[in-house]
Amino acid sequence: MNLLAVVGSSRKGKATDTLVDKAIEGALSKNPELKVKKIYLSDYNINYCKNCLACRDSKTKEPIALCAIRDDMDILNKDILDCDFIILSTPLHNGGVTAMLMTFFERICWTLAKPEGRYLTFYGCPTSRTDKKRKVISIITNGSVPPIYRIICDDATKLINTVTRDILNGKSLGSLYAGAIENRGVEYYFKKAYKLGMKLT
Ligand SMILES: Cc1cc2nc3c(=O)[nH]c(=O)nc-3n(C[C@H](O)[C@H](O)[C@H](O)COP(=O)(O)O)c2cc1C
Repeated sequence: MNLLAVVGSSRKGKATDTLVDKAIEGALSKNPELKVKKIYLSDYNINYCKNCLACRDSKTKEPIALCAIRDDMDILNKDILDCDFIILSTPLHNGGVTAMLMTFFERICWTLAKPEGRYLTFYGCPTSRTDKKRKVISIITNGSVPPIYRIICDDATKLINTVTRDILNGKSLGSLYAGAIENRGVEYYFKKAYKLGMKLT
């Protein structure tokens, strides 16, 4: 079984990255056989989606529709396809996900999903191109907002959960909002991240 951990922070070894490591440790404690691949989005060449809609309008029955842009998303799309478990992580930037993670989400929107989903009365929403189910957890860090204010200062989790369900064909098993890191220190959340990781397998 494969675990893909996606780090949406540009700072290696800092809060988000460290909590992802804890979650990976938790997952490995339950399933030592897991094959783990941790990727820093900042290491990859990921261009902005151009809204050409070549992928969305592709009639392919393959699990990945071809994007018009040739860059490292070719690698990352395959990594996602291969994985059974995913950790999505981001620092809170302006109340939401980082631009890096948003770009990544835009690029997988129609390559990994097709416009055949139905929501209430409208049709054309993203729905995964594969039946393969994935289990997903998310980790969101922030500098100053304590978790008690999450309800008003967290646009990241809703987006991550929507992408999880509609694009990754994933089930969200939980998310950690590691708030006020600047006051509390990242160590405050180590146990929570580890326990969240244990839920993955
Ligand atoms: C551009 C930018 C926007 C940010 N926006 C917020 C915010 O809306 N709320 C908040 O509490 N912290 C905000 N922060 C602080 C980061 O969320 C915080 O530093 C984060 O935990 C760092 O994660 P890292 O150590 O993985 O880089 C922001 C930081 C940057 C650089």
